[in-house]
Amino acid sequence: MKKLQILLIVFFCLTHVCGQQITFAKEIAPIIFKNCTPCHRKGEVAPFPLENYEQVKEKIQLIQYVIQKGIMPPWKADTAYIHFRGERVLSKQAVNDLNKWASSGMLKGETVKYVPPANKYNLGKPDLVIKLSKPIHLQANNKDRFVTYIEAIDLGKFRYLKAIAIVPQNKKVLHHCRVDFEAESIHLAKTDADGFVETHKLEGLSIPTYPFVGDYVPGIAPYIYPDKKGYWLPQKVNIMVNLHYSPVSIPETDQSEVHLYFHRDTTDIKKVVNFCVVLGNEDVMKKKLLISANTIDCFELKSKKMTSDVSIFAIQPHMHLIGKKMKIYALSESEKDTIPLCKVSDWDFNWQENYYFQTPVIIPKGYRFCAEACYDNTNNNPLNPFIPPQDIFFNGDMKTTNEMLEFYIQLTENQ
Ligand code: HEC
Repeated sequence: MKKLQILLIVFFCLTHVCGQQITFAKEIAPIIFKNCTPCHRKGEVAPFPLENYEQVKEKIQLIQYVIQKGIMPPWKADTAYIHFRGERVLSKQAVNDLNKWASSGMLKGETVKYVPPANKYNLGKPDLVIKLSKPIHLQANNKDRFVTYIEAIDLGKFRYLKAIAIVPQNKKVLHHCRVDFEAESIHLAKTDADGFVETHKLEGLSIPTYPFVGDYVPGIAPYIYPDKKGYWLPQKVNIMVNLHYSPVSIPETDQSEVHLYFHRDTTDIKKVVNFCVVLGNEDVMKKKLLISANTIDCFELKSKKMTSDVSIFAIQPHMHLIGKKMKIYALSESEKDTIPLCKVSDWDFNWQENYYFQTPVIIPKGYRFCAEACYDNTNNNPLNPFIPPQDIFFNGDMKTTNEMLEFYIQLTENQ
C-alpha cells in the first residue's frame, strides 16, 4: 500500500507539479504555426494541413519521425556551418517540447486558431510581369512534373534587376521554381508554340547564360539586392521559368507569374553577376566528373583566384540524383584561411535552393572558391536511377540521370 502511494505521488509530481505542463495552446501551437503551417495549410504545397490541435495530434508520430530524421522542416544547409536568410529550422527547445508533449498525453490547453502571417514585403508595382502564356494542366497521376516556360523579352535597354519575385498562382502544386535567362535562343528553340517544354527535353543543352537568377520555394520572400547593386540583364533576353510541380491526385492547373523590378536610376550601380564553377568544364579544370558503378566517390573543385575583392549575395550548390553532400568555402592564397560559405550534408534534388546570405560576404582579392562533394553510386542509395548501378558522369549535358558538380555565386566586384 505504501509503495503504491509513493508511486502515485511520484507520478503526480512528474505529470503535474514538478514536471512542466506542456500544452498545445501554450508551447506547441507557436512551434507548429511558425515552422510548419506556412506550407501545411489549405491551399499550400504540403500534402496535409497542420492548422489545429486535432490535425497535429493525429499526425504526431509521423511528425516526430520527420523531425528526428531532419526531413521536416525542409532545410538542407547545415546551420552549424553558416546561417542564411529565412532558415527553416527548429530549435532544440522546440524539439524537446514536441517530444515531451507527445509523451505526456498531448494536452490541449486553451483553444488557439492559426492566423496566416501578413505579407511582410511590399515591393510595389512590378516593372514587368511575365505570366505563363496559358495555364499548365497537371494530370492526377501522382507524379512530379517538371516544365519550363520560355519567353523572349525586350527590356528597352540593358537593366539592373533590383528584385525578382516568383508569384505562384496555385500554391498547392508549385513545389519549386527557378528563373534563368539566356542570351541566345538555344532553349527557346525547343519550346512549343506557347513557349512550353517538358524540362527533360532541354537536357543535352548548355547551361543558360544567366543561370539561377530567381528562386522560389514555399514561404520564401523575394530577394532584394542591397542599395546600388543590381543583377545585370541585356536588353534582349529570354526568360526561362523552370517549374517543379508536386504530384497531384486530382487534376490541377497553374498559371504562375514572375515579377521583375528594375533600378530606375542606373548611375553608379554595381553589376551583380553569376559566378559559375563547374567540374568538367575544361576552362576551370581539366578533369571530368566520373563516379564509377558501385563506388562512393568524392571530388574537389577550385575556381580561379578573384582579381579584386568581391561581395557575395547568394550561393547555389548543384548536383543531381546521387549527390550526397557538398561543402563550399573560399580559400586564401596561402591556403591557411578559409571562409565558410555553404554546407549541405544531406543533399536532396527536390529541395535544392538558392541560399541568400544574411548580409553580403566580402571575399578578399586572391581568394578562390572551393567545393568538396561526394556521391553514392551504389545499390545502397535508394535514389540511384540505375539498377544495377552504372558509371555516372558529367559530359557537358544536363541529363538528370548523369551527374554534375557545380555551384553558382551571385557577386559584385568591389574595385
Ligand atoms: C517549405 C514548406 C514546408 C515546411 C515549412 C514544412 N513542410 Fe512538411 N512537407 C512539405 C511538402 C512539400 C511535403 C511533401 C513531401 C515533400 O515534397 O518532401 C511535406 C511532407 C511532410 C510530412 C509527410 C512526410 C511523409 O513522408 O509522408 C510530414 C509529417 C511533414 N511534412 C511535417 C512537417 C512538420 C512537422 C513541419 C514543421 C516542423 C513541416 N512539415 C514543415 C512542405 C513543408
